[in-house]
Amino acid sequence: MNQKALFIIFGGTGDLAYRKLYPALFNLYEKGYLKEDFAVIGTARRPWSNDHYHEVVMSAIEDAGRDSGRTNDDLPRKFASHFYYQSHNVDDVDHYVALRKLADELDEKYDLQGNRIFYLAMAPRFFGTIAGHLKDQALLTKGNGFNRLIIEKPFGRDYPSAKELNDSISGSFKEEQIFRIDHYLGKEPIQSIAGLRFGNALFNSLWNKEHIDNIQITLSESLGVEERAGYYETAGAMRDMVQNHIMQIVSLLTMERPDVFDSEHLRDKKIEALENIQMYTKEEAKKYFIRGQYGADEANTQLGYRDEEGTDNQSTVETFVAGKLITHNPSLDGVPVYIRTGKRLTKKSTQINIVFKNDDQNIFAKDASEKLKTNVLTMHIEPDQGFTLEFNTKTGNQGYNLSPVHLRYRKTATEKAQIPDAYEGLIRDALMGNKTNFAHWHEVSQAWKIMDVVREAWDEEEPAFPNYASGSMGPEAAMQLLADDGRKWVFNP
Ligand code: BG6
Repeated sequence: MNQKALFIIFGGTGDLAYRKLYPALFNLYEKGYLKEDFAVIGTARRPWSNDHYHEVVMSAIEDAGRDSGRTNDDLPRKFASHFYYQSHNVDDVDHYVALRKLADELDEKYDLQGNRIFYLAMAPRFFGTIAGHLKDQALLTKGNGFNRLIIEKPFGRDYPSAKELNDSISGSFKEEQIFRIDHYLGKEPIQSIAGLRFGNALFNSLWNKEHIDNIQITLSESLGVEERAGYYETAGAMRDMVQNHIMQIVSLLTMERPDVFDSEHLRDKKIEALENIQMYTKEEAKKYFIRGQYGADEANTQLGYRDEEGTDNQSTVETFVAGKLITHNPSLDGVPVYIRTGKRLTKKSTQINIVFKNDDQNIFAKDASEKLKTNVLTMHIEPDQGFTLEFNTKTGNQGYNLSPVHLRYRKTATEKAQIPDAYEGLIRDALMGNKTNFAHWHEVSQAWKIMDVVREAWDEEEPAFPNYASGSMGPEAAMQLLADDGRKWVFNP
């Protein structure tokens, strides 16, 4: 099914538009979700011509490597001809008047029926200004067409600033018109969490406090801060990864089963799940949350964070976070969820481990102290995609001995290549008005409230950074966090 729409991209000359949005829109065009009745207005301060803009869009498609094997060589050019560039200063009212004129013209030319998607691929400090002018200068269409706003993180830096930001856009757009991108929600293995849990009696019946001992979420990265020191110095791992991506995953793993699988029911259950995460006191936050910053590696071949280009050489920004959250959602009441993310760790791996409780009765034990090996379900999100289930089975011919085996399912390279990029899927969802894979304000705000306590606790003490070597799995304290509970990280490369 295709959808008619006018996209207005603020930040049309930027990196996000080039790397993600233009290739994603092109894929939607190639697959027929966008047919000839769509148009894109790209805006930014630079004075570009439409011709130059077309060249940029075509080169973005080529750079994304999406043009190989195409039978119709002319498709990128045809696609790019739907793009219009408008030089724009977000503070200048007259520029919105010009934008409206162009938008109305294109609406008519392509018969877009008043459907508009405003994509703010810009720093959040501009969101309020842009949203306000869009409304005041009548860029929001009336009638049957839709007006949707897509925004990117960071959505605030704590609850008060996030609320201020939300208030600044909610004067122009209603919650149901706002699509907050969290690219993790665009990843297929994350989307499949609900399917795994609620589409299988096997897992659904075990997904409770009687059977799950603990849940572990690891988002480990091998790369360092790269060229993003400017942004990262103002963010840190907690704001960059935990408040958004990890908390979204926590909500999907701990929510109760929705009555129906649609965006409203799912949203309600996710909000409830986040509201049922235990709020810590500052003392608890200090105990249950560990921060770290990478130093050089042992061989001294990689720079420590403080020596990276663009960082403060006394920086106290964390590049690693580990923590324990406790859910009080009824089914999993009291189950700990251990989370962990960091830069310059041993390897890139995003995975979720569901650690099941052990059966106290080991009828195979030779002596009373012999415990059964724990059953673990691992969801591999990236770079591997698939599942591993560990369980015990009889091995050897002599006697009755149990050993763990790993039941593995992995998507093949060909299967992975067929999965749309996160942005493609998310833009398609926004185009179709499907909010399932976007974060609701109540989710964002609740995640901030949980994180703010930790931040306040941390702010009371100067961290002793750096405290982990590049290439390790983070500070020792992150191992101790689980050891204190008599547990260990399943993923321990
Ligand atoms: C982004 C963060 O949201 O996610 C980056 O800003 C991080 O710092 C990235 O590297 C990780 O995403 P992915 O999809 O590579 O796991």
